[in-house]
Amino acid sequence: MEEHPKITLFPSIDVENNEKDSKIIVESTLPRSTKHPRSPLYFYQGFWCPSDFLPNIIDFQNHFQAKDTDIIIATKPKSGTTWLKSLVYSIVNRTRFTLSNHPLRTKNPHELIFFIDAKNTEKNVSLDLSNMEPPRLMSTHMPYSSLPTSVKESECRIVCMARNPLDTFVSMWKFLTQIHPEFLQQMTIDNFSEIFCNGEESFGPYWDHVLGYWKESLERPNKVLFVKYEDMKENGIFEMKRLAEFLGCGFSMEEEKQGVIEEIVKFCSLSNLKEMEVNKTGKVVPVFENKLFFRKGEVGDWVNHLSPIMVERFDRMMKEKFIGSGLEFKISL
Ligand code: A3P
Repeated sequence: MEEHPKITLFPSIDVENNEKDSKIIVESTLPRSTKHPRSPLYFYQGFWCPSDFLPNIIDFQNHFQAKDTDIIIATKPKSGTTWLKSLVYSIVNRTRFTLSNHPLRTKNPHELIFFIDAKNTEKNVSLDLSNMEPPRLMSTHMPYSSLPTSVKESECRIVCMARNPLDTFVSMWKFLTQIHPEFLQQMTIDNFSEIFCNGEESFGPYWDHVLGYWKESLERPNKVLFVKYEDMKENGIFEMKRLAEFLGCGFSMEEEKQGVIEEIVKFCSLSNLKEMEVNKTGKVVPVFENKLFFRKGEVGDWVNHLSPIMVERFDRMMKEKFIGSGLEFKISL
């Protein structure tokens, strides 16, 4: 861990006057890590934040005013963000589009939901969002504890999708080695599993991230919905009803009879989205090809990648961290 970096925040913008404030230069003493290919990461408010996201996250915390109709999708990276985005978007907009003219046919799910953490435009987050029609759909990888007060105090809803740590880890490893092939020269999967378990990785520690949302979902079930990737895989119809109900747009009996839920589940399935031309050839941002967000999507793929020592490491961590929380994940179906 290195100390005392300087973080330069991009010019903050005054929301009222749409004018640039004076530049904010923050001289920080945040701990810094360079083990991860998304380096450097800064240890900010208890989580490891990629340096390029940190200014936007601070900006969001300082300026964002939540509306009661807002919907925030919160995930630890590689937990099914892409899937949850397509499901939430399709549920909320189901009366606006038919499946034949559905925006997911021409856009990757990440293009349809505003990603808070990344710098989307030259404006700040509040301005980016100010003209959006309700319900405003947004997503973040921030832990619950770091969400702005207005998000916590308003009636806005948060949906968190979480996934068992072994598959989340393998998915992350596969993703990183695709976008940063040089990472393979610096790191073995064994070393990286140790780093993942210790938490020094993008938006880690994984354990605190999932437990933060899990606990809040138990305390405020109308505020936070906790969806497990494995449950959505195993019992999609049931989970979809729960999700739509939570979002305030439950499926009617008529819709159920017409098979609307099944249609959305099928439409948003990995096999269907993966075959869309936009997801085979497009890019969300210059380095991320859309196809990288769609791999196997299986529960238990970790068996093909993790050694017994690594599995034991995860097992130990799960026992230590989840004890007494009531949180459990299926690690195979
Ligand atoms: P695998 O790498 O295990 O295949 P994220 O969207 O948070 O980056 O997570 C990516 C993981 O979700 C990848 O897992 C990817 O294949 C899987 N995924 C993407 N779209 C999916 C979908 N429609 N249904 C199920 N899983 C999906």
